[in-house]
Amino acid sequence: MKHTAPPKHFLKDDDLTVAQQAEVLDLAAKMKADPYAYPALAGPKSVAVVFEKPSTRTRLSFDIGIAELGGHSVVIDAQSTQLGRGETVGDTARVLSRYVSAIVIRTFGDDRIEELAANASVPVVNALTDGWHPCQLLADLQTVAEHKPLKGTSIAYLGDAAFNMGNSTVIACSMAGMHVRIGAPEDYQPAPEVLARAAEINAATGGSVVVTEDPVEAVAGADVVSTDAWVSMGMADSEKRIEELTRYQLNGELLAHAADDAIVLHCLPAHRGEEITDEVMDGPHSRVFDQAENRLHAQKALLAWLLRER
Ligand code: CP
Ligand code: NVA
Repeated sequence: MKHTAPPKHFLKDDDLTVAQQAEVLDLAAKMKADPYAYPALAGPKSVAVVFEKPSTRTRLSFDIGIAELGGHSVVIDAQSTQLGRGETVGDTARVLSRYVSAIVIRTFGDDRIEELAANASVPVVNALTDGWHPCQLLADLQTVAEHKPLKGTSIAYLGDAAFNMGNSTVIACSMAGMHVRIGAPEDYQPAPEVLARAAEINAATGGSVVVTEDPVEAVAGADVVSTDAWVSMGMADSEKRIEELTRYQLNGELLAHAADDAIVLHCLPAHRGEEITDEVMDGPHSRVFDQAENRLHAQKALLAWLLRER
C-alpha cells in the first residue's frame, strides 16, 4: 500500500489541536458505550505495534482495540526484528508503510520516533517515548471526564515531572483547559520549553500550570491527583531518585489535602510503597483501573480518527 498525502502523526499531545483532542475524547466515550459499532479498520486493515521497551497495558489495549475496530494487529518486540540488528528506523518505517495502515511504537529517545515518522507514509502513534506518553493522557482525560468537566478542573501531579508522564500531563491537561499543579523537586520539574508551550496553550484554553517543590501546596484542594513511577524504564540511578522523591509519595496523609471528592490516577505499573501507597491505590478515591481500561477506548478512537483524516 503506498500513500501519497502526508500522514497525520500523534507523536506528542499537541499533535492534535484542542478541538481534535475533544473530538477524540468524545469518540472514545461513544466507543466505550458501544465497543463494536466502529469498524474503522474493517478489511481488515493492519496496524504494526512495535515495542523497544516492556509493556502490559499498551500492548494489550492496542492489540485488542485493533481487533475491535475490525483490523489486524502485528505486535512485535523490536529485538526480534532487524531493528535489533541495527536496521535504521527510517528504513523500517519505509518498509512497514508498504504493509500497514498505521505504525504504533514504544521507544526511547524522541529522535527515534521522529525519524520513524519522517520516513513513514502512514500515521505513526507514540506508545511512550522518554519525552511523551500522549495515548496515556487521552485515557487519563477520558477518566477525569467521567467524573468532572475537564475545563476548570485542577490536577496535581506529583514526583518525577521531568519525564514522559509529567510532560504529557502538562501539555494534554493544558489543552483541556485544566489547572495543573506540579509538585516536584527542582531537578524533576518540566523543562522550560514544555512550560513555555503550556503557557501558549493556556492563553487560548484558560488552563494554567503552577510548579512548586511543596507537595502539600500542589495537592491542596485538587480535584485530581496523579503520580507515576520514580524510576522509569531505561533509568539507572534508582537509589538516588527514590531518596530525592520520597517526600512526594502519594499516601493517605497527602491525599487528605485534596478535594473531598478527588480522584486518584496512576498510569501504572505502580511501585506500591514508593510513589503510591496501597491505601491510596486501593482506596475509595482511586480510579486507576478505570484509567487502565480507558487506554483501550481512547486508542481505538485515536486510530479511527487518524485513519479517517487520511
Ligand atoms: N501505562 C502504561 O503505558 O502501561 P504499560 O507500560 O504496561 O503499557
Ligand atoms: N514513566 C514510566 C511510565 C510507564 C508507563 C516509564 O517511562 O517507565
